[in-house]
Order: sequence, then structure tokens, then C-alpha cells
Amino acid sequence: MPILEKETARDRDSQVLPKVPVPPLKQTLDTYLKCVQYLVKEEQFKKTKAIVEKFGAPGGVGEVLQKKLLERRDKTTNWVYDYWLEEMYLNNRLALPVNSSPVMVFPKQTFRDHKDALRFAARLIRGVLEYKGLIDERALPVEFARGQLAGTPLCMEQYYRLFTSYRYPGIKTDTLKVQTNAASSAPEHIIVACKNQFFVLDVVANSKQLNEMEILTQLEKIMKLAENAEERLPPFGILTSDGRAEWAQARDVLTKDQTNRDSLALIESCVCVVCLDEPSSLVPSDTNRALLMLHGGGHERNGANRWYDKSMQFVIGMNGICGVVCEHSPFEGIVLVQCSEFLMKYTTGSPSKIAKASSIRELPPPRRLLWKSNPQIQGLLAASGDRLQRLVNNLDMDVFKFKAYGKEFIKKQKMSPDAFIQVALQLAFYKCNGRLVSTYESASIRRFQQGRVDNIRSATPEALAFVKSMTDERVTFTDTEKMKRLRDAINAQTNYTIAAITGMAIDNHLLGLLKISKELNMEKPEIFCDETYLTSNQFILSTSQVPTTVEMFCCYGPVVPNGYGACYNPQSDHIIFCVSSFWENTETSSAVFVKALNEGLLEIKDLCNRSSTLATKPAGSSQGAGQPHKSGK
Ligand code: COA
Repeated sequence: MPILEKETARDRDSQVLPKVPVPPLKQTLDTYLKCVQYLVKEEQFKKTKAIVEKFGAPGGVGEVLQKKLLERRDKTTNWVYDYWLEEMYLNNRLALPVNSSPVMVFPKQTFRDHKDALRFAARLIRGVLEYKGLIDERALPVEFARGQLAGTPLCMEQYYRLFTSYRYPGIKTDTLKVQTNAASSAPEHIIVACKNQFFVLDVVANSKQLNEMEILTQLEKIMKLAENAEERLPPFGILTSDGRAEWAQARDVLTKDQTNRDSLALIESCVCVVCLDEPSSLVPSDTNRALLMLHGGGHERNGANRWYDKSMQFVIGMNGICGVVCEHSPFEGIVLVQCSEFLMKYTTGSPSKIAKASSIRELPPPRRLLWKSNPQIQGLLAASGDRLQRLVNNLDMDVFKFKAYGKEFIKKQKMSPDAFIQVALQLAFYKCNGRLVSTYESASIRRFQQGRVDNIRSATPEALAFVKSMTDERVTFTDTEKMKRLRDAINAQTNYTIAAITGMAIDNHLLGLLKISKELNMEKPEIFCDETYLTSNQFILSTSQVPTTVEMFCCYGPVVPNGYGACYNPQSDHIIFCVSSFWENTETSSAVFVKALNEGLLEIKDLCNRSSTLATKPAGSSQGAGQPHKSGK
């Protein structure tokens, strides 16, 4: 298909969708006040309320900015896209591993030997090429929303960035570059990392893609090359695990040399990175596999066997610990799931007859990427290694499979499973800290052109009322009261979800108003300098639903030093939670959070069960609805 036609097809995909709306100003400001009311002290809230009212007053700054935002909406495909990308990712100076890049942990594989692992890798690479072929042909079926407001088509643009993106580090901000169709029609290659060395694996020879057996042969050659200790080069990949400004500075040093520039150019233009990892001595528990996927275990394990700027890095551990690490700026976890599930099904399917029967061509050996080092670069490598080690030592991860029930039980209560889980997370946090905090839940806005996500602020006043009723030792709430508060909390959460997925949440909107004020060179409006705004953007609880239909799970680190990352994967009869926090912070503990979560989920189930029993009992039976029931602490 000619390139022009492909472009048109892509544009068509997107053009059928509406543009992301700009919510009414008053609606956003009212919601903002509601969201922050119980997150800050009363005095502070009073101050905030006055600031917000002034901002939103007729003829006020808010109106000016809103008007400009509406103009921007008319002029652009998606008014928030660039603002959001910068704010969420590109301006973030923290290291990508743990702080930004989510991972998908595949089921533990059983490899008898290295050859088995390489066979799996070869099959996976074939799968990547098949999947990329579907993307390039624009042949992936358009997805439709499920769950709340099911049925509307979703924007597919994120898929087109899966294998074509690269995030360049910058001193102040990074740059996400996406290859155009024309550029990607060049011969394709994959970068294979093995023993901290990088190799170019051309996947096309004589205009024909390599088959599985050919890929396997090339991987075997790579492994041999990597084993040659004499030719081993310093672990340059470790630099990409560093803070973005540090890596940008180091990159400036590297690019003074032509050899390094050539190697970087090859990595930056690859389809993906495949990391053949050394076996680790850790027990392959869910938690350990998650940790190894998130940071590679530091420079002494596989931490340097990575290139974090590249959007898709497939990890194949020789002892069966496998998964994918993704640079988050080009796409969301849901797209990662679709791709990973395709690959898992592909790798577990029986080898195609064609693959078995096809002949193996004589191919030139893969090339090792060369690096020129010097004492300055050696120093940079050591410093990056130390910083990664600190991150490794700091990550407190707990992958918890809650087995008492899953989505089906919740649906039977006529409640939204996602909202229910969010309320349970609020309860867990409250049990640990006696307060609620600013919470982020990603809500997909792929119903709109170039839609990414907005935020569902799950720490609602209704959730606070519920968690208090479940934990207050001084007041005894009846089951009826608790159940009412539970339903109110779930309704509030569901309503926020519906608002968010239809483009009516507040975070993108407030960000848009702030960015417009900057573009107009205005003095920063008071609402954005206010302590409440700053607090409300410190997401101590950063949550996300990433459901899978194949056995695997997604996880990520906290987004603030005193926070938790909580990724969950609801299944019909169980829920997988991946809770992360930092050991260095004394206020957080993943194990303590998980314990509270487990308790809370069981207490809510008991409450629901008692309430449904009550509802079916004839009036006047011994346990009346008004019967107080002490919270099960
Ligand atoms: N009674 C019975 N069933 C209900 C119900 C109720 N009151 N409310 C919802 N359900 C059902 C739904 O119909 C749905 O059924 P299905 O499994 O047959 O599709 C199921 O429960 C799940 O719905 P729900 O739990 O409400 O959530 P959802 O699937 O709509 O998901 C979000 C909500 C916010 C997670 C989703 O809209 C979203 O945005 N997902 C993307 C998140 C993301 O981007 N993650 C990655 C970030 S990197």
C-alpha cells in the first residue's frame, strides 16, 4: 500500500472521533473545590475557596483563559495532548526505571537451557514483527469501549507509536520522536542486549523478513559474541537508567565521538530492544519478578542490560523471568496489554509449519555496537550505576493476589468493580494513615481524537464518609448506614469515572488553563500558586486498572517519594494488586498497605453479605436493619 494511502487511513481512524471537549469553567472549579475540601486544613480550604471564586468570577482571569482554551480546541486536533505529554512525562526529570516506565510481567517460563530461552526469544521477535506488520498495514481492528458507556470506538493512534518512538533525554525537557512512515520503510532492525553489550539484529535480509529459525540462529551468534570477554565493552546502557538531565549530559559527552554517535543512531532507530538477561539467584516470586522487570536488579544484575529510552524492551531471562518494560510517553498500559497478549498467545501457539519447514539462509553475523570510552565516561557510568543501585535498594514492592473474590462478586452487588476497588484502596490508605490523600486514577479518553488519559480523583468526600464509618472506634455505625455510605462512595466514584471518560474531568482542564496563561506571558494565576493546588497534584496514591485476559500483570513505582503505586488487575474470581512504595520513606510500607487492603476488602464483603441477608430476611426477624454492627477491625 502506498504511504500516502496509509496516512489517509490513519487520519480517517481518528477523524471519525469527536475532539476532546473543554469542560465549562464553573463546573471544573466547583469540582476542584469538592475534591480538595477534605484534603487540606479548614483554614487553607477557606483561602483556596476565595482564590477560586475570584478566578472564576465574571470578567476574571479564568474567563480569559477559558476563551483562549476554546480557541485552541478549535485550532488543534486535541487541545490537551502536547500540554499533557510535557507535564506528565517529558518535563519529568526523574529516572525512567521505577519512576515512570511501567512493566508487564509475563508468566514464569520454563527453559531447560539457553537454547530454549533463545527459542522463546526468536518466537517472540517473530510475533513482534507480525504485530508490527498489522500496525503498519493499519489492519488492527478498531477497539470499542467496554465497561462504563461501552460501545463507542476508541482512538487507535497509540498503537502506531509502539515500535516507532524514541524518547531523547534533554537537560530541561525530553523529546519524544516518532518515526514517520517514510523513515520506517528503511530496513528494520532490532537491538539485542546481552551481557550489557548491544547487537544489531537485522530482521530483513534481501527484502525478506527473517523467519523464526533464522532469528534463532542469529541470537545464538549474538550469545557467542557476548560471551567473548576480551571484546566486552563498558555497560553503556546504564546511562539510560539515570535521571533525565544526568543522561542528557552524559549523552552530550558520548556524542563527541563518531563511533558513539553511530551506535546511538542505530539504537534510536530500532523496532525494539530485546534483553537477554542473566539468570538471577532470586526466587522467582511474583514480587521478585516485578522488581527485576522494573529495575533489572541494578548494575550487578541486569540493570545495564537495558536501553530505557526505547519504548518497547522485551526481557527474556535465561531462568524464565520474562516481560516487557515500556517507556510510557508514547502510549498507555492498555495498548501494552493488547500487544503483550498477542505476543503471549503467539509464543505459546504451536510453531507454524512454515517456520519449521522454511530454510535457513546464510546471513551475515549480527554486529556488536561499539563504544568509545574515556576516563570521564567511565566516571559517568559509575555514577549512573550508583544512582540505579540506590533506586533498586529503595523500591518496596508487594504483588498481592487477593483470592477471596473478584469482579463477579462485586457485579452481583450491582456495583462497578472498578469503583469498588478504588473505594477499597481508599479504605486501605485510611486504615494506615487516618486520612485520605490526593489520588490519581487513570481514565482513558480514547473516545476522542488522539485521546490519552485524564484523572479520576478517587479521594471523594463520599469515600471519606464511608471509610470513617468502617474505622471509627468512637461511633458505632449500623450496617445500614455503612452500606448506604458504601453505595454513595461507589456512586460518586462511578459518576466521576463517567465524567472523566467523557472528557469532563478537571486535571487536564486546569493544566490547560495554566499552560495557556504561560503562553500568554501572564503572571501565574493565584489559583496555581496556591498550596492546595500543589498538594492536590502530589499524588500520594497513584492507581490504575490494567486488566488482562492472559496470565500476566502490570506494575509501576510510586510517583512521589512518600507515595504508593497501586496497579490492579481485576479477574472474575480474584484481583491482583501490585503495590509499590519507597523504603527510604518512613510513612509508607507496601506490606502494611497490602495487609490493610486485604482486611478492608474482606470487611466490605462481609458488610455486603450481611446486608443482603438482612434484605432477604422477613421484617421483624432477630437482626433488624437498624441493628448496630461494630466495624470488623
Ligand atoms: N452492576 C453490575 N455490573 C457493573 C456495574 C454495576 N453497577 N457497573 C459496572 N459493571 C460491569 C460493567 O458492565 C463491566 O462489565 P464487563 O466486564 O462485562 O465489561 C464491568 O463491570 C467493569 O466495569 P467497571 O468496573 O465499572 O469499570 P470499567 O471497565 O468501565 O473501567 C476505567 C473503568 C476507569 C478503569 C476505564 O474506563 C478506563 O479508563 N480504563 C483505562 C485505564 C488505563 O488507562 N489504564 C492504564 C494506565 S497506564
